[in-house]
Amino acid sequence: MPKALNGMGYSDYSPKKQKDFTAIIQQHLAAAKRDLPYYYLDLYSGEGYLPEYGDGSPLIFLKNIPQGLCTFALFIDRNAASIIRLRELTAGYTKTRKMFIPFGCEDIFTVMDLVFDVLKMTEEIDLQGLVYVDANGIPDFNLLIKLLNTEPFRKLDVLLNIPAGIVKLHMRKRATIVDYLMPMAKTTWAVREPIGRLHWSMLFGTNSQCGWITDTPLIPIKTEMGLKIFKKANNPKNQQLGRLKTLRIIDRAGRSVNTPDFRRIEDLIGDDNAALESSLLGT
Ligand SMILES: C[S@@+](CC[C@H](N)C(=O)[O-])C[C@H]1O[C@@H](n2cnc3c(N)ncnc32)[C@H](O)[C@@H]1O
Repeated sequence: MPKALNGMGYSDYSPKKQKDFTAIIQQHLAAAKRDLPYYYLDLYSGEGYLPEYGDGSPLIFLKNIPQGLCTFALFIDRNAASIIRLRELTAGYTKTRKMFIPFGCEDIFTVMDLVFDVLKMTEEIDLQGLVYVDANGIPDFNLLIKLLNTEPFRKLDVLLNIPAGIVKLHMRKRATIVDYLMPMAKTTWAVREPIGRLHWSMLFGTNSQCGWITDTPLIPIKTEMGLKIFKKANNPKNQQLGRLKTLRIIDRAGRSVNTPDFRRIEDLIGDDNAALESSLLGT
């Protein structure tokens, strides 16, 4: 998968991803209660626009906010240049929609304090909204699980765009997607048909009824069709670990260990090598 200069990965799958994200966010926003604030946390926001595929998730979100919905958006990206560009692109929206939009730059870890400050500000408020997770590859599941188990973020729904076919590879153990979805503490999950050989999948988790889902490409996993689709995404046999070569490396404890060949993984998914490596080495 190629990467743009700003670090945003894109591929032939990107236009389909943006189309599906648009359908999902439109319906999610339309179904939101007007008497409650709506929180949108875009944990891997990118810069908002890429000539290769047009509007990014922050702009898609901002352009689809219905009249009368009080909205708070937090965009996080570790690429400082992307955040500067995103500020420019979203300046008009902040003025016209009277929204409060703090931006994190740097790594998500470094802005967690900001996120938790927001949390403190809002702990009395019953809130609704969405956490969108669209990393260049596998996201930081530990951080996400922590976020989704902390009040009041616990109340937010979550949408993940992940290469399901390499979850097992990334985590270097017999884990499947279910092992990472379970601790996110959502009662209902829905899935979008996996795409391509890495099984890029969208997974949506919520604790509400979500009748709006019928107008999106998401299928609830509790239905027969949804379960069939989910099994495709979650099938460890489809996952790539066996097919990748291994390298012998020295880990941070000085041990010589086998690891998947990251140079090949990077070619496959355009992911962030450091994140993959640190996750693999448990750092
Ligand atoms: C696939 S792009 C996001 C695309 C965006 N959702 C859109 O629709 O245009 C992934 C982004 O995650 C950012 N990123 C990667 N690792 C990160 C991390 N650990 N913390 C914050 N941002 C990260 C990259 O800089 C990149 O802009």
